[in-house]
Amino acid sequence: MLTFRAATPSDLQAIMVAENGAHAYPWSEKVMQRYLLKPDCVWLLEQDGQHLGHAVVTLIAGEAELLMMTVAPEFQGQGFGRRLLEHVLQHLRATGAECMFLEVRESNAPAIALYEGIGFGENGRRRGYYPAPGGSEDALLYSMDLSDG
Ligand SMILES: CC(C)(COP(=O)(O)OP(=O)(O)OC[C@H]1O[C@@H](n2cnc3c(N)ncnc32)[C@H](O)[C@@H]1OP(=O)(O)O)[C@@H](O)C(=O)NCCC(=O)NCCS
Repeated sequence: MLTFRAATPSDLQAIMVAENGAHAYPWSEKVMQRYLLKPDCVWLLEQDGQHLGHAVVTLIAGEAELLMMTVAPEFQGQGFGRRLLEHVLQHLRATGAECMFLEVRESNAPAIALYEGIGFGENGRRRGYYPAPGGSEDALLYSMDLSDG
């Protein structure tokens, strides 16, 4: 059974296994731990208790930001990223979010396809924002209006 729930500090190890496996530049345990202490900030998608993926979201004055989203490598490409993001959006709408922002590496085709497919629109670029092999890489900025249902 698929379950969507808010994470607790005791989920740290499962989150870090997925995080370290999925990202060339994963978040540190320390940073993740800090977000796990904030209520309703880290969200999990699980299947029969197994960690599939997680998303880190902040909501301030109606503005939501997707800070991180990860599906464990062995579960990628099976629709779980879309399910996780749909759940996050549903939760945010229900709690009064009006819009959502995110940044993504311009080389991250799977993530860009997911964000655009779900309704995010590109509206900016931060040059050299991310570290990359031999230098840096631009971030593309995306947003979506959540107030229109
Ligand atoms: C990006 C990521 C979260 C997507 O999750 P996923 O479970 O693999 O994606 P899904 O199977 O739900 O696919 C959703 C959409 O993404 C796109 N997509 C997924 N994998 C893709 C790939 N390898 N190439 C191109 N598009 C892809 C498709 O458009 C798909 O749309 P569809 O539902 O119409 O087929 C996941 O691949 C991941 O964790 N990647 C590593 C970490 C990362 O880059 N996170 C995002 C930035 S923080």
